[in-house]
Amino acid sequence: AGVITLDPGYKNTGSCESAITYLDGEKGILRYRGYAIEDLAEKANFLEVAYLLIFGELPNKEQLDKFHSDIKANSEVDEDVKKIVDSFPRTAHPMGVLSSLTSALTAFNPSCVDINSEEDMYNAIVKIMGKFPVLAAWTLRRRNSKPYDYGNASLGYVENMLYMMFKKPNEEYKLNPVVVDALDKLLILHADHEQNCSTSTVRIVGSSHAGLFASLSAGVSALWGPLHGGANQAVIEMLEGIKEDGGDTAKYMEKAKDKNDSFRLMGFGHRVYKNFDPRAKIIKKSADEVLGDLGVEDPVLSIAKGLEKQALEDDYFVKRKLYPNVDFYSGIIYRALGIPTEMFTVMFALGRLPGWIAQWREMRLKKEPIGRPRQIYVGENLRPFVEVSKR
Ligand code: CMC
Repeated sequence: AGVITLDPGYKNTGSCESAITYLDGEKGILRYRGYAIEDLAEKANFLEVAYLLIFGELPNKEQLDKFHSDIKANSEVDEDVKKIVDSFPRTAHPMGVLSSLTSALTAFNPSCVDINSEEDMYNAIVKIMGKFPVLAAWTLRRRNSKPYDYGNASLGYVENMLYMMFKKPNEEYKLNPVVVDALDKLLILHADHEQNCSTSTVRIVGSSHAGLFASLSAGVSALWGPLHGGANQAVIEMLEGIKEDGGDTAKYMEKAKDKNDSFRLMGFGHRVYKNFDPRAKIIKKSADEVLGDLGVEDPVLSIAKGLEKQALEDDYFVKRKLYPNVDFYSGIIYRALGIPTEMFTVMFALGRLPGWIAQWREMRLKKEPIGRPRQIYVGENLRPFVEVSKR
């Protein structure tokens, strides 16, 4: 065996070669398959971006239509899954429910476990692209005691997500184009981010040839944590807390800087971006536009802007190159769109799904070896065994 290099948090370890997402943390560049994130967020829709990430090229009209109709044809979940949804407490966190339901799909779709060809792969991909938003919407409907349904097949992929979440029985659901556009943009911005914690999890679980759904379920769990996707919920809760405490942002800045206080400024800092997060730039602008268009006034938006301004001028944050990340403003938009706080990370998961799939597909097509890091052992040397009666 060669020399083992210790790298906690894999800060300087590349785990794979990938042709999906290009990220330059110094310059604040993010591209999917060579396309600038700014262009995609402005001009593409989420399903086109999903296709681009997974298959490598932007789809033409026929390819996109086929992808969408294959997804729709595979969106139905087994009736028994409804019983599983019903068995969760209404108060359960939606990410725990979503991760369990994604894992449960494995049991109901045995053909998706053993992937031996590109055709198997495609079938598993359209199935999960169809079923995952259904499960996500049903976690919300379970909380709100609303009946489960599959939405409206004539709608676009993102439109139907909203419909499945918010359609009330016996009431027409009117889609607001401002809401659809804003959600499309948020999902695109979250769609991939190279080897982040949840994506690395999906790749490493998938590297044992566990099926796609099992790998994705692990990815959902990884995303849940507040240092990763859970930050979007944590940011709003933090901003709410500051508001209720009188809006004294300076006090919270001091707490974030105090090394004896576990409080961190949520939505700030990033492992790779050390100048700015290009997604945060787009989102900040979009937050102003969306709230303006919807006529929503949210006092936490001004608290967020105040915090950002103070942090950008503060030595502690400047020295450590801590800038607002994608999730500093995303929660404010989700909230304006009427999405409950506990669903924010589920929305992130809906956006990240094609990225996870693309990364898993790339890993399997390249026949990457099983992921298996090494360690440096620092425990006891050999010790004689002592019987329980003599301990
Ligand atoms: N507030 C206060 N101090 C911070 C923060 C923060 N948000 N982030 C980093 N620091 C400090 C940290 O204490 C350390 O200081 P020192 O060098 O004195 O010990 C220094 O900055 C470097 O931080 P780190 O924890 O070593 O950096 P990391 O690359 O391991 O962590 C991070 C990156 C994103 C986990 C971290 O910045 C953080 O916890 N941010 C808040 C949570 C958050 O917003 N997460 C979402 C990330 S973007 C979306 C996503 O990926 O899901």
